Amino acid sequence: MSFKDSKVAIIGVGNVGATTAYSIINQGLCEEVVLIDVNKDKAYAEALDMAHSVYFMNRNIKIYAGDYKDCSDADVVIITASAPMPKDSHSRLEMLAPGMNIMKSIVTSVMDSGFDGIILVISNPVDIMTYYAWKISGLPYRQVIGSGTNLDSARLCCELAKLYDLDAKSVSAFVCGEHGDSEFVVWNSATIGGKKIDDVFSDNAPRTGNTTKPGLLKMTSQAGWEIFNRKGNTCYGIAASATSIVKSILFNENQIYPVSVNVDGAYGLSGVFLSVPTIIDKTGAKEIVEIKLQPDEEEALMNSAHVLQSFYKELQ
Ligand code: 2OP
Repeated sequence: MSFKDSKVAIIGVGNVGATTAYSIINQGLCEEVVLIDVNKDKAYAEALDMAHSVYFMNRNIKIYAGDYKDCSDADVVIITASAPMPKDSHSRLEMLAPGMNIMKSIVTSVMDSGFDGIILVISNPVDIMTYYAWKISGLPYRQVIGSGTNLDSARLCCELAKLYDLDAKSVSAFVCGEHGDSEFVVWNSATIGGKKIDDVFSDNAPRTGNTTKPGLLKMTSQAGWEIFNRKGNTCYGIAASATSIVKSILFNENQIYPVSVNVDGAYGLSGVFLSVPTIIDKTGAKEIVEIKLQPDEEEALMNSAHVLQSFYKELQ
């Protein structure tokens, strides 16, 4: 596989799917993008609109509306389709029941095409949907990845960067566990410019102000709701997060991202999909990076695993 002849299929062309497609073609990551949606007019219109934008892009990319047979030779299938968030919802977990059958139908259709590439799940509740997609697909678990807390980690880094007027990419801090209420920050390994976060907090007290670790976690875990409650969705952050994961796959970059993977034996866990730092390459989730967790961080990880696994019995 090389980006020169690679192909990405995006299933679900709502705000997240369309924005992800546009982000991928904007960065010129592959040769072909195919958009698949139950609403064929929507897929056709988004593809035609984006095809016109390719005129202004750095390289020529073929983008078109297709159907599941077009997944057969795709390198990556991105699944964004999900049931609408129930009204007055306060947790992504509430999307499981209405979204389960959608995921089952999608993954079955993808696999019926003869697809044997990498599935990237964005659909929420993403950790459980990724586990479910893996079970239905029958693919090796390294080939099924969820966007997980990759975006949450970016949100945390953005908040910390804002405090000290830095580029967020100079902050290294992982949010792990569930992409949701039980997520936690691995503060023990968080650094800014190589400096441990506690030293940054104390050495820059005037700018740190009354910022606290619990406050930063709350801001991070609520960020999606801050956006959703005002505009009815989130799309740019999650699309850029998905694009970074796809780029590491297509370009075999070996980037380390906190994504939802089958934690098979690492961190004392097995048989659960949740986010831990993972090396992403052309094979998918190449290897989990086991970082040293403090006792409270280990407890938070176990809690996330229990929360997520408690829903597995609802998956038919
Ligand atoms: C978010 O937090 C879509 O769950 C995703 O923006």
